[in-house]
Amino acid sequence: MANNETRIVLTGFMGVGKSTVARHLSYLLRYETRDLDDLIEKSEKRRIDQILKNDGEPAYRKIETENLKKILEFDSKIIALGGGAWATGINREIIKKHSYTSVWLESTFDHCWRNIRFSRRERPLAANKEKARKLFEERQKVYCLADWHFVIRSGFNSFDIAKQISKEVFA
Ligand code: S3P
Repeated sequence: MANNETRIVLTGFMGVGKSTVARHLSYLLRYETRDLDDLIEKSEKRRIDQILKNDGEPAYRKIETENLKKILEFDSKIIALGGGAWATGINREIIKKHSYTSVWLESTFDHCWRNIRFSRRERPLAANKEKARKLFEERQKVYCLADWHFVIRSGFNSFDIAKQISKEVFA
């Protein structure tokens, strides 16, 4: 049985599989899950790639922080963040202030890049391999500030990772 007090945000690089793991967790624990990127797109009524391309990254980050505040107020047990949300210091403070536990899903760059490349979603901040790799390397130092760390190995089964998180983090 899950610990009733625990509420988590899932972080990690684009393409690592945060939304998929969140869905599995939701199934395993019977908790509702919310997705920050989805909320941003709903409240802005446009796609994230359009916001990034038209307004630029600094404007996007402001929108992201506003929506992070909103999503935390819903009090959901499981929140999947966009890959850059945890990289903003103020966001990390807000998450902690709301007593959420942060969970970093880590994998190799190649794993993330494969998923980015084959995804239908456009990700302007990972528009080509070099750009994506540079960002991936820069982000490691902030992702490791998360409370928990789970490594997704190649040939991984995202359902097994979700089971591990449900047992260890929600214990
Ligand atoms: C971003 C990750 C994306 C999305 C936006 C910016 C990032 O979310 O929020 O394109 O800065 O890493 P996913 O991690 O769900 O792809």
